Amino acid sequence: MSINSTSSKNLHRLENILIIGNGGRENSLAWAIQKNELVRQVYLIPGNAGSERINKCKRIKIDIENKNELVEKLNFLEIDLIVIGPEIPLANGLADFLRKKDFKVFGPGKDGAKLEYSKSWAKEFMKDANIPTANFWKVNSLAEAKKIIYSSLIPLVVKADGLASGKGVFIPDSKDECYRAAESIFNGKFGKSGDIVVLEEKIEGPEVSVFALCDGERYILLPTAQDHKRLNENDKGPNTGGMGAYSPTPLLTEDYLDRIIKEIVEPTIVELNKKNIDYRGVIYFGLMITQSGPKVIEYNCRFGDPECQTIMPLMDQNFVFLLEKCSMGNLTGDEKIDTLDKVSGCVIASSKGYPYDYKTGFPIKIGKIDSNDCQIFDSGTSLSKNGELITDGGRVLSIVCQDKDFDIAFEKAYKNLKEINFDGIYFRNDIGYQVRENFSKKN
Ligand code: AMP
Ligand code: GLY
Repeated sequence: MSINSTSSKNLHRLENILIIGNGGRENSLAWAIQKNELVRQVYLIPGNAGSERINKCKRIKIDIENKNELVEKLNFLEIDLIVIGPEIPLANGLADFLRKKDFKVFGPGKDGAKLEYSKSWAKEFMKDANIPTANFWKVNSLAEAKKIIYSSLIPLVVKADGLASGKGVFIPDSKDECYRAAESIFNGKFGKSGDIVVLEEKIEGPEVSVFALCDGERYILLPTAQDHKRLNENDKGPNTGGMGAYSPTPLLTEDYLDRIIKEIVEPTIVELNKKNIDYRGVIYFGLMITQSGPKVIEYNCRFGDPECQTIMPLMDQNFVFLLEKCSMGNLTGDEKIDTLDKVSGCVIASSKGYPYDYKTGFPIKIGKIDSNDCQIFDSGTSLSKNGELITDGGRVLSIVCQDKDFDIAFEKAYKNLKEINFDGIYFRNDIGYQVRENFSKKN
């Protein structure tokens, strides 16, 4: 990536960076940020067992809810830039609080995070801005839901309005199933997140993830990505947080991406401005490419996981400048991201049982890894009492490789996966099937 209008000398101090979050996403952000020679130390709150394997990275034990202690510590560490990874602290207004304390923060305030933490608000937002999305009904009671479900002539999707760790969306096969989904949400399955239900027209098409780094007014797009949400091969089984990804996605040609920019990205930023929302962070557009064009399935106010682990290795040392510029509201919008013609593929190794119940605490063995343009980002790991790396989450490791084409990138990723083992390890063998030319011949 080269940023034409920027040289490292005329920028502010960027020695100490803080990243909040504990997943593979945050580790990959740390990995990309530490590449910059101005960066001396990257702190992670809380990070995970893989964080300190990354150059210049250090974990800090501190409760972000303890605001006084947090500010004291960040002042003591002379933090120059804060990157907030997950949606929950953003939805709770952590970025607003830290900005008020004069920190430079990459991550939207509570008002911008509403794009993610209230699906009904996001749908109204899109309606106001004429942004293509599935038709919807915002519903406040089960009786109301019942009426709509049983009179609907089209299949519906049922969603809890608030944050539900990716579990609040139901894609029913019948009206009765649809009703039961609404009933379970109104009965408190997701607590307060289910006080409102959104019923949506079911739409069809491949899904893609588009990320815009936004400084409040201007934006720059990261390479596009495609996630694999379903647990099992051939996109079967339950929805997960994501079992693997690749970037960029050839499905989005330059022309098509232009259409997405005109119909979706720019109108979103214009509408944010109209609503007086100074959005300084990443806008994640979860899109479906339907026969009638691109439609927004959802907005997120954070980087996707595992899309972030997939995209970060394509960034060069100037990436941190983009984050800083967003935090300060001074992107030019002309910054260029040059990925040196590499592509990237990521496969997630998960715990048996994920996305439902799973056990943790199993030792992770890692053999001889090809580290040439390959990374292993810990997603859910910790260290046992005797310092052994153990599983500590549903998604455990992100295995990421880059090369000039997807066949080689995924070949390297799967070769590395053969060297990794823990009790109950599970991964999909078909990640990137859409772009691996060798895939159908071999399988
Ligand atoms: P979300 O948590 O909103 O990303 O939804 C999870 C998944 O549900 C999406 O990735 C889609 O595969 C699916 N989905 C959500 N909304 C719709 C819709 N209106 N029509 C079809 N599928 C949907
Ligand atoms: N990979 C999907 C998400 O982060 O929501």
